[in-house]
Amino acid sequence: MLVCQPQSFLTEQSEKGLEISGLSSHKLQDSGQLIYEELAIDVVVLFEWIDCLGDLCSNFFMSEVVKVEDLYKSFKKGFIPRRQEILKGVNFTVPSGMITGFLGANGAGKTTTMKSLLGLAFPDRGRITFFGGKEISPEVKRRIGFLPEHPYFYNYLTGEEFLRFYGELSTNLKRADLKLRIEALLKKVDLLHARDKKLKNYSKGMLQKIGVAQALIHDPEFVILDEPMSGLDPDGRYYLAEIIRETAKMGKAVFFSSHHLLDAERLCENLVILRDGRVIYEGKTEALLLSMGHQASIVYLDKGEKKTLSAPSLEEAQTSIDRLRRSGATIFEVRQERVSLEEAFVKVALRGPHP
Ligand SMILES: Nc1ncnc2c1ncn2[C@@H]1O[C@H](COP(=O)(O)OP(=O)(O)OP(=O)(O)O)[C@@H](O)[C@H]1O
Ligand SMILES: [Mg+2]
Repeated sequence: MLVCQPQSFLTEQSEKGLEISGLSSHKLQDSGQLIYEELAIDVVVLFEWIDCLGDLCSNFFMSEVVKVEDLYKSFKKGFIPRRQEILKGVNFTVPSGMITGFLGANGAGKTTTMKSLLGLAFPDRGRITFFGGKEISPEVKRRIGFLPEHPYFYNYLTGEEFLRFYGELSTNLKRADLKLRIEALLKKVDLLHARDKKLKNYSKGMLQKIGVAQALIHDPEFVILDEPMSGLDPDGRYYLAEIIRETAKMGKAVFFSSHHLLDAERLCENLVILRDGRVIYEGKTEALLLSMGHQASIVYLDKGEKKTLSAPSLEEAQTSIDRLRRSGATIFEVRQERVSLEEAFVKVALRGPHP
């Protein structure tokens, strides 16, 4: 799906156009000389339109929300500080309009990468561009929502005050509209009942949910969540998964890191897997799982007794079925079992060969 918001673009532009036309026609009544000014203003409007049309087209055909090229980052570590390379040439893209999971063992470099995307960590070298080639800027940042791995919460604010604080910082919404948006978000993250409770009295899971609401307050096109599932019980994870799905359905890109591989398998159409500062897999979740080979379970009856035989691939299952038939067994059921993301992750990201 493509990220495109033609409606908001048109409204903004028509407002601009109307404002300028209004001003020039008013001036025209005072002096004939202003016809020239009006023409000049109309040319400016025309150029603004062409410029914005270009932006609209590039957004329409934009296939990625971020492109990371050859990212290197090192930190000084240890008692006698020595530089240690953490990111060793990271390359990947996050496609627009879908959910991308960012996986990797502890210390693989996920948080460092995410911070680098947002300008919170400074890479030694490499290039990061957003929305079809734009460098990070305040304008680009306004289009991104972020939940850090360890967010800071103002303890004495209530949930609603916290969202209002960020809403006033990051949106131009009128007070009444912001109130409605906050209510909708609190409902979405199942915290409407705790809107007047101070954050110091929130549980870890509740804080995590209000943090996600904060990341969505300005209706961003690209949402980056660093371990949003952390600290959530199954019910909380279910709610969060729904929010992530809904966000993607609205045409936005979600890029989140997680150690909950079952959730990642259910949610993510796309994956980026990091191992020791390098990307070892980038692509569709389905393609990764299929590449790991299929397992088949053959349930058969042997002298009236039900038995099960596993085969590592469909070809081997076929050979086993032929052999069982020849030996007089009755084939009861053949189940095709796809490798789970958890199994694939262990093979690729933990035990596989180093990239
Ligand atoms: N500011 C820093 N100074 C020194 N070392 C750092 C700093 N930030 C991160 N590191 C180191 O970089 C490595 C990668 O850390 P990072 O937090 O990016 O990993 P991660 O993949 O997010 O891990 P986790 O799954 O545990 O969150 C770790 O060895 C960490 O100690
Ligand atoms: Mg991390």
